[in-house]
This record gives sequence, structure tokens and C-alpha cells, in this order.
Amino acid sequence: MSTTRQIHLASRPQGWPTAENFRLVEVEVPELADGQVLVRNTAMSVDPYMRGRMNDVRSYTPPFQLDRPLEGGAVGEVIASRSADRAVGDTVVHGLGWRAEAVVDAAATRVVDTSLAPADVYLGALGMTGLTAYAGLTAVAAMQPGDTVFISGAAGAVGSLAGQIAKQRGAARVVGSAGSPAKVAHLLGLGFDAAFDYHDGSVAEQLAVAAPEGIDVYFDNVGGEHLEAAIGALRRGGRVALCGAISQYNSTEAPVGPRTLVQAIGKELTLRGFLVGSYQHLAGEYATTMAGWLATGAVRFDQTTVHGLENAPAAFLGLLRGENTGKMIVSLD
Ligand SMILES: NC(=O)c1ccc[n+]([C@@H]2O[C@H](COP(=O)([O-])OP(=O)(O)OC[C@H]3O[C@@H](n4cnc5c(N)ncnc54)[C@H](OP(=O)(O)O)[C@@H]3O)[C@@H](O)[C@H]2O)c1
Repeated sequence: MSTTRQIHLASRPQGWPTAENFRLVEVEVPELADGQVLVRNTAMSVDPYMRGRMNDVRSYTPPFQLDRPLEGGAVGEVIASRSADRAVGDTVVHGLGWRAEAVVDAAATRVVDTSLAPADVYLGALGMTGLTAYAGLTAVAAMQPGDTVFISGAAGAVGSLAGQIAKQRGAARVVGSAGSPAKVAHLLGLGFDAAFDYHDGSVAEQLAVAAPEGIDVYFDNVGGEHLEAAIGALRRGGRVALCGAISQYNSTEAPVGPRTLVQAIGKELTLRGFLVGSYQHLAGEYATTMAGWLATGAVRFDQTTVHGLENAPAAFLGLLRGENTGKMIVSLD
């Protein structure tokens, strides 16, 4: 019987996770049951939501189990199949990342076309990440042409796409915030009209300079001070897509605020949380639209790639610290 490598959850973090919370383990590859395929993963995704799954709390996804492999988006090649629906050689996306090889129910895989885009793009721009940006902006925040749009976490995977989609959809002005001068420059290069580094001072003050007339839509990846400032800057009838709150994921203290929330009444604001999984009905429309934008160069998609399964924990920790521009991918080739 052959063996394969996996990353297991060794312990649960308190506050910021560390390398000690993960363990690289060699295990035997189980026999395939009827309807299953063996996938050699070529790339896996690390995502902020995985931080929540490291905690032993009930959420919209179950917690990772101690001494068991972590899970998450992955893409790879079918190398053995006991399913009539999947052939050896198919490239498939599935949910069992954090391992070199995965035994997956064929029904839980989706075949992707690598003649249209490299396989790992289906973990980002043509996958869950891109759909999050598109659904959040168009369906959740109901962005309209002429809107002024503010996006936090703007140099990240979801944020950088959300900003570019807003421009394609006729936003009058798109403002982004990110965590370094290099990322600010990068956003301006992507076509954002203004951008600022949230370390440079108050978010509210910097947003007031970047969008002096106020904003109509806020795409929130960060929560905390960003959300508070955006509520203050929103114009009457403004809309917020509550996508993520990464400023709070490693916090050991209860967050405060947003202290500006009372303004939602007078300005008749809508603040709406969402999960990308509830917007799968837009996946087809999104894939066609984004493939077109990528093909013409209207939208650019950046990746930060870390190589090797053994470096997946470092990639994840780096993502939480902001070491990525665009999508953080772990290449397993
Ligand atoms: N609702 C959904 O269905 C859904 C789906 C996917 C993702 N999300 C959420 O969307 C957000 C973005 O996800 P992503 O996959 O695109 O990750 P990402 O933005 O590519 O990576 C995370 C980024 O967060 C930034 N960050 C870290 N700590 C921060 C802080 N204290 N304040 C401000 N920014 C901070 C870092 O960039 P800087 O250098 O700029 O700090 C880092 O690069 C996350 O909140 C995630 O949970 C939600």
C-alpha cells in the first residue's frame, strides 16, 4: 500500500495561530470505494475562513478535528477512478486540500477546463474567491452604475476582484484600503481611483480624503474600524456587503462597535451579511463574465504562490499577516 502526506491540526490556537498548530503526517492511501476517485492535488487554497474552523465552536462550517487533516479548496488530477463520471486525467476542483493526494467522492468534484485557464485559477478568479466578489457586489450590495464604492482588504483575493468588477460595472469611483504602500500602488495600477494604507492613520479620515462626497457601497472584508468608518461615510440609501471581518479573526477580546451604527437609521442604510455558498446560482453567469474579462485583460488576477505542502501552514499564517497580494495559493507540483 502506498503512502501520502497530509497536514493535520495538531492543536487549537488561542489568538494568532503558529506553526506548532499544524503537523505534517505520512499516512497510507486508502482503497477507493465505488464512486470515489484518487486525486493528486496540484494546488490548494488557504483562506481566512480556515482560521474560524481551527476553533472548536459551532459556525456555518464545522470545526477542523484535532489529529485529522484540514480541509479546503484544492485542484488536481484524477489518477485512479472507480466512478463512471470521472476519468483518469480529468482535472477536478474539490474540498480536500491540505494533502498531496485525496480520496474524494466523484460527486463532490467538479471537472475544470485547463484549456481556458491554468488549474489553480479555478481556486481564485474562476472559483469561490471570484464568485464572492461578484455576488457580494452585484447581488448583496446591489451596486449600480455611478456608485462610489469602498473596498477594504482591497489588495487581497476577493478585494482586488471586487474593485475591478465595480469598475467594469460602471462605478463612478472605487476606493480601496490595504496594508502597505506597495499594495496601495498596486491598487492604483489595477484601476482603483484612490487607495490608502490603513496603517497611515484613521480610516475615517483617510476615507474622507479619498471619497470626499461619501460612498454608496462598502464591500467589507475587514470589519472593526473599517466598518465603523464606512458607515460614517455612506450616503443615504447606502449598502454594505458584510463579506468578512479579518481584523477580528485572531482577536482574543470582544470587538467594540461599530459605534456609528445608529447612522444606519437616518441614512436608511442596508447592511447585509452573506455566504458565497448561497450564491451558487450565479456561478455560471459569473464564470462566463469573468472568463471574458480575463481574456480581454479588462480584469487582472494576481496570485502569491508558496511551493510545497510542507509550507502550507506558513502560507496560511502569511495570509493572515498580509503577505499575499491577490490570491494565496500553495503549489503542490
Ligand atoms: N462571505 C463569504 O462567503 C466569504 C468568502 C470568501 C472570503 N470571505 C472573506 O473575505 C475576506 C477576504 O478573503 P480573501 O480570501 O480575499 O483573503 P485575502 O484578502 O486575500 O487575504 C487576507 C488579507 O487580509 C488583510 N488583513 C489581515 N489582517 C488585517 C487587519 N487587521 N485589517 C485589515 N486587513 C487585514 C491582509 O492584507 P493587508 O496587507 O491589506 O492587511 C491579507 O492579505 C476575508 O475576511 C474572508 O473571511 C468571505
